Amino acid sequence: MLQSSEIREIRKDFPFLELSTKEKPLVYLDSAATTQKPRQVIEAMNRYYSYENGGPHRGAHRLSMAATEVYEGAREAVKNFIGANSVEEIVFTRNATEGLNLLAYCWGLENLKEGDEIVLSIMEHHANLVTWQYVAEKTGAKLVYLYIDENKEIPKKEIEEKITAKTKLLAITQSSNVLGTMPDVKTMIAYLRKVSPDAKAVVDGAQAAPHMPVDVKDLDCDFYVFSGHKMLAAMGAGVLYGKLDNLNAMKPYMYGGDMIEYVYEDHSTFLKAPGRFEAGTQDVGAASSLPVAIDYLNAIGLDKIHEYESYLVDYAYDAMSQMDDITILSRPTNPRGGLITFNFKDVHPHDVASILDSKGIAIRSGHHCAQPLHRSFGIHFSCRASFAVYNTIEEVDYFIKNLDEVRRLMGLGTR
Ligand SMILES: Cc1ncc(COP(=O)(O)O)c(C=O)c1O
Repeated sequence: MLQSSEIREIRKDFPFLELSTKEKPLVYLDSAATTQKPRQVIEAMNRYYSYENGGPHRGAHRLSMAATEVYEGAREAVKNFIGANSVEEIVFTRNATEGLNLLAYCWGLENLKEGDEIVLSIMEHHANLVTWQYVAEKTGAKLVYLYIDENKEIPKKEIEEKITAKTKLLAITQSSNVLGTMPDVKTMIAYLRKVSPDAKAVVDGAQAAPHMPVDVKDLDCDFYVFSGHKMLAAMGAGVLYGKLDNLNAMKPYMYGGDMIEYVYEDHSTFLKAPGRFEAGTQDVGAASSLPVAIDYLNAIGLDKIHEYESYLVDYAYDAMSQMDDITILSRPTNPRGGLITFNFKDVHPHDVASILDSKGIAIRSGHHCAQPLHRSFGIHFSCRASFAVYNTIEEVDYFIKNLDEVRRLMGLGTR
């Protein structure tokens, strides 16, 4: 496992930690929302805007070519990161949400109809849920939810009952942003292929790609989406992976410059993937952060990152499960993502978050873009502490100790 001396070295790379002083600590436990950035990533973007900035794909001049090189280099890095077959299978988007919307518009609206079923889990982030609600409403396809058991897992029976020949799309998270549950998407997709060979499988990897090795070929998914900003890279650097035949069978999402082949007065022809899905001037600055973030994660090792984050979660879970005024919502056992979601008896999550913030601890409070999941537990919101490789066990301790501050200020007494 990563040693505390290694974590100390890693922390030196993260400028935001300079904000943390003895008098005014800053413990960032909201990496599931967005991660902080190492200086290497910030320097790459600085370098791009200082010395490599030009209109990508269009010019014959030096800086345009430099920008194209940065952009296409990022595509190559992402291809290798997720084990895709070719760079053509990597479409840059703003984020996971945009990737899912692209699929909803370009595949869902075009291919689904009444009688078809879209299978998704109750754990989905709204990005992988509201999008399919829209498609269902427009096409007449039906949404079918996979529910979870007390272990916060989708039971095999649920999968075998709900994925049927009528299933035309499986839209599933690889790691829940609320529960930390990591469904066995590979087995689910294999089952889908057996019972409905023409169906497509979309995997939401927003919370998985930053924390564990991903191999899209091994998963055999048709599409995979994630957000660079949740894995040390910049906001605006999102990825949609698609098997090439799937992508080239889809019409473009947005129309305009840089995605066309020929344009006539009355019609146009379009580039093949990925160009046809990247209309307009792309966010090369954001893309420039991806190879550096990927190198950074790979240098530590995603297996080691997952192991270390699990250690932090196990520690928090063990301590918090002794507290009878706290209900833990997230998954009780490993494997699980790097987060713990909980509620204080009789205290609103916003109060918990505000009190912790007064002690320099940043957690998330609210519904975490998963209202149906919260409603299925009979609640509306929760608190979430999420961890990354730059967190320490001492920070987790500080967080746990300060739960007493919540008790004190809310008049709950000490435990
Ligand atoms: C599981 C999951 N999917 C999708 C998203 C959407 O990501 P973004 O807001 O970067 O598009 C998130 C963001 O929190 C998420 O946790």
